[in-house]
Amino acid sequence: MLVSHAVIPLDFQRCTVLTLTQGTGTGIWATDMADKFPNSQVIGTDLSPIAPGMQPDNVTFEIDDCCSAWVYPEDHFDFVHIRGLFGSIGDWPRLYREAYRHLRPGCYIEQVEWSVHNRASDGTMSFIPEFAQWSQNAIRVATMTGKTFEIAENMAGLLREAGFTDVVEKRFKWPVGPWSSDPKLKEIGRWNLLNWEEGMEGWVMAAYTRVLGVSAAFRMQCDPTRTAKPLSVVLSASPRLFATGENSSARPPASCLS
Ligand SMILES: C[S@@+](CC[C@H](N)C(=O)[O-])C[C@H]1O[C@@H](n2cnc3c(N)ncnc32)[C@H](O)[C@@H]1O
Repeated sequence: MLVSHAVIPLDFQRCTVLTLTQGTGTGIWATDMADKFPNSQVIGTDLSPIAPGMQPDNVTFEIDDCCSAWVYPEDHFDFVHIRGLFGSIGDWPRLYREAYRHLRPGCYIEQVEWSVHNRASDGTMSFIPEFAQWSQNAIRVATMTGKTFEIAENMAGLLREAGFTDVVEKRFKWPVGPWSSDPKLKEIGRWNLLNWEEGMEGWVMAAYTRVLGVSAAFRMQCDPTRTAKPLSVVLSASPRLFATGENSSARPPASCLS
C-alpha cells in the first residue's frame, strides 16, 4: 500500500495502524495520514506545540523530545515516521535504536530528509557562491552543535546498524524553481521555491545568529533563493527510505498485510 512515499505492506485501510511521527511540526503529515486512513491512530510529537488544533479525532499531538528515552511501551507502534529532523539530532544511532525497540516486530520506519549539498540540474555540485556558502554554513553549524545536517546521506546505513532489515532507499531530484520541462517537476519546483522563500528565515535565523554569531542583516544578504530563482538550481537528491524492524518473532497479524 502506498503510504506517504513508500510502499509498505500493511493494510492501513482495514487495520488500526498505530503511527508515531517524531518532530511533527505543524502536524501536516500526521493530519493527512489520519484523514486518509480513518482507522489509523496517529501520534505526532514535537518540542513545540505549534499544531493548529484542527486535526481529525484519530490524531493526537504530544510535546516530547525524541532524543530522550521514549515514553511509549516497547513493541508498540506499527509505523514510525521522521521527516526533516536533519540538524536537530545529536545521536542518530540512539534515536534509531529507540524506534527499533518501540516498533512492533516486522513493522516499519520511514524517514524523509534532504541534503544540504545543493546541486545544479545536471547533478554536479553547485558552483553558485550563495548556495555553496549556505551548505558550508550548515556544515559549520553542525560541527559546532554536534547535530549533523548530513543525515540524508547516512540514514540508510545507520538504520541497518540499528538492526533494521530490508532497507529501501529512494532518491529524488527536488527542483527549486519552475525550470524543469517535466510538468510534474515544474510544479514541484514552483512549490519548493515558495518553500525556500518562506522557510529561509526560520531555517537560518537561530543557527546563524546564535551559533555562528552573525547579525540578522548579514543573514538576509545571503538569502540564496534570490540566486536560485533565475539560475534554476535544484536541491540534491532527497533519499527516502523505509525499513523493517525484526526484533522478535511476533509479526503484524496476517489480516493486516496487503
Ligand atoms: C523541519 S521541521 C519538520 C516538521 C515536520 N516533520 C514536517 O515534515 O512537516 C522540524 C521539527 O522538528 C522539531 N524538533 C526538533 N528537534 C526535536 C526533538 N529533539 N524532539 C522533537 N521534535 C523536535 C522542531 O520543533 C520542528 O517542528
